[in-house]
Amino acid sequence: MHFPSGLLLFLAAAAPAAKAPTAAAPDAGQAPALPRPMASALAPLPASERVDWSHSPFEAADCSLCHKGRDPKKPGPLVKDTNELCLDCHEDFAEILKRKTPHPPAQDACTHCHNPHNSRQKHLLRADVTTLCGECHADLVKAARAAKVGHSPVTTGPACASCHDPHGSSLPKLLDRPAFELCLGCHTRELTDSSGKKLPSFKRLLDDNPKWHGPVAAKNCLACHQPHGSDDFRLLAADYPAKFYAPFDAKAYELCFKCHDSALAQAAQTTTATRFRDGSRNLHFVHVNRPDLGRTCRACHDAHAAQQDHLLRGSVPYGTSGWVLKLNYAPGPNGGSCEKTCHNTRSYDRQKK
Ligand code: HEC
Ligand code: HEC
Ligand code: HEC
Ligand code: HEC
Ligand code: HEC
Ligand code: HEC
Ligand code: HEC
Ligand code: HEC
Ligand code: HEC
Repeated sequence: MHFPSGLLLFLAAAAPAAKAPTAAAPDAGQAPALPRPMASALAPLPASERVDWSHSPFEAADCSLCHKGRDPKKPGPLVKDTNELCLDCHEDFAEILKRKTPHPPAQDACTHCHNPHNSRQKHLLRADVTTLCGECHADLVKAARAAKVGHSPVTTGPACASCHDPHGSSLPKLLDRPAFELCLGCHTRELTDSSGKKLPSFKRLLDDNPKWHGPVAAKNCLACHQPHGSDDFRLLAADYPAKFYAPFDAKAYELCFKCHDSALAQAAQTTTATRFRDGSRNLHFVHVNRPDLGRTCRACHDAHAAQQDHLLRGSVPYGTSGWVLKLNYAPGPNGGSCEKTCHNTRSYDRQKK
């Protein structure tokens, strides 16, 4: 969680108030739990400005529904605390605010994000969603906008609200649904990345390839991807080469070596570090560990799921023309073989002396 340090201190001091359920909201005289927007910033838009959305009780023009006065020029203070007002009509929010993961600004005052009168933004929002969230989650929004590889749902359409419930959630991190379902929800449609390349449908990919990678089987897409943006290829959470060939350096494969021992590709000879060996000749080393044209893991493995054991792929896209190179892997008793692929049929046998 990144907050300006001033706000953090403030929050630490105000923490118990922030957790208080709205039913017992502090009365108007008490200090608010979070610095609220200036009242003047919540005034109705001036008559001279365009209005796209209007709140029906405001349209009814009876200011005294919420204000102590009736004079539209000077309606005076509110009849009660903001959230008590809102909840009088929006009864369903009483339950939402008490969910397991509450959102402190929603418990404190709906007006952190909504204009109670009218707005040019959908849902009576005071500003567009990313700007609103960025008022308190500034570092996260700044990083998402500056990321080399961006994720468009974060900043377009419902933006943050595509994945988070801004009011409260029964899941951690205010997620609207478990992350795996969120990811699959969109990644089952036909999508293209920023360079126009088609992205696979994950529903199809997972249905067609029954051998799922450990973290995928654990429904943990976040083990490898950052939802908000990343400086690494494909929103990855750590370094992983983007191409078919790359010079070997364990750091360049940090993503895989967070969970797997890099020894599998480090020594030319081994009888323990990998099963992909011919006798003691380490075939991971042979293929991957080159100063120039090392083959990256994707040459043979799919990071998500495959039809064969060991996440071995049936084929791999090669070059930029869209041509696919077949792997034709077949397991053997103490090893396996690859047929008519990068080379003619070659086999390996771990028992070989
Ligand atoms: C649904 C409730 C509701 C209705 C109806 C409503 N208001 Fe408000 N109004 C609010 C809330 C909430 C605030 C924010 C007050 C705060 O945070 O101190 C506010 C703030 C304002 C402010 C800014 C306060 C300031 O001191 O500058 C103005 C001006 C205002 N309202 C005018 C009106 C007028 C005029 C009407 C009737 C045409 C009206 N409101 C009807 C809820 C309402
Ligand atoms: C007197 C009843 C009443 C009060 C009080 C009231 N609302 Fe509403 N609100 C409504 C009605 C009616 C609608 C329209 C419902 C619909 O279209 O389904 C609405 C709609 C909304 C919407 C949805 C707009 C959209 O386009 O989706 C928001 C946001 C909202 N209100 C916020 C607030 C906030 C914040 C407060 C407290 C300051 C508040 N309301 C107080 C009656 C009220
Ligand atoms: C942190 C910002 C934030 C706060 C605080 C907040 N909202 Fe919202 N609200 C949003 C956003 C963003 C949306 C649009 C959600 C979407 O696009 O799906 C929204 C949508 C709504 C809607 C319409 C759609 C729906 O989900 O029903 C209503 C009604 C509403 N809010 C009421 C409230 C009330 C009542 C409160 C106070 C208890 C409140 N909001 C506090 C950000 C906020
Ligand atoms: C007025 C300040 C404020 C605004 C505006 C705000 N938040 Fe928050 N948000 C908080 C506070 C305070 C917390 C609780 C901090 C914590 O638990 O570390 C929080 C927590 C969260 C969390 C959970 C973080 C965690 O680690 O569990 C998420 C997700 C989140 N906010 C998303 C949003 C989104 C999306 C928006 C815009 C719709 C938004 N916030 C707008 C103040 C704000
Ligand atoms: C594509 C879905 C998605 C979108 C869009 C999205 N988030 Fe998140 N966000 C997540 C997931 C998933 C997590 C949980 C990460 C974890 O548990 O490691 C998260 C975590 C967070 C957290 C907790 C701190 C952290 O980094 O773990 C905050 C705060 C947050 N998001 C705010 C936002 C804001 C603000 C926006 C809009 C600018 C936004 N999110 C847009 C999916 C999304
Ligand atoms: C609301 C829809 C939506 C959700 C939810 C969503 N995505 Fe995406 N994702 C997209 C779109 C659209 C693209 C296409 C590229 C772009 O527009 O940024 C994309 C692109 C990607 C890319 C490729 C990025 C690139 O340009 O190289 C990855 C990786 C990705 N998403 C992973 C995830 C993961 C993991 C989750 C779950 C945490 C997730 N997505 C949730 C819509 C979504
Ligand atoms: C073990 C790490 C790992 C896990 C877990 C993981 N991914 Fe990936 N993901 C990758 C890697 C590596 C790439 C780059 C693939 C390549 O180019 O070889 C990638 C690429 C992608 C892409 C871009 C399209 C593509 O195939 O290149 C999307 C979309 C994506 N992942 C979504 C997801 C979703 C959704 C989940 C959860 C079901 C998930 N990922 C889980 C590592 C992972
Ligand atoms: C979050 C931890 C994690 C990350 C990151 C990760 N893996 Fe895995 N991987 C696992 C787990 C858990 C298994 C299942 C282990 C088992 O079944 O014994 C596995 C299994 C595998 C297997 C199959 C092994 C076998 O013989 O069946 C291969 C191949 C593999 N991973 C390659 C990769 C590659 C390539 C990367 C980087 C793109 C990567 N892994 C990143 C956790 C991870
Ligand atoms: C030339 C093809 C090829 C490349 C490139 C390749 N692997 Fe493998 N890998 C295999 C084969 C074949 C196996 C299955 C060995 C067996 O059990 O017979 C395997 C097995 C594995 C295993 C299971 C443990 C073991 O070593 O036996 C892991 C983990 C693994 N690979 C990770 C990786 C990672 C990480 C990369 C990239 C740094 C990579 N592989 C690159 C072909 C390859």
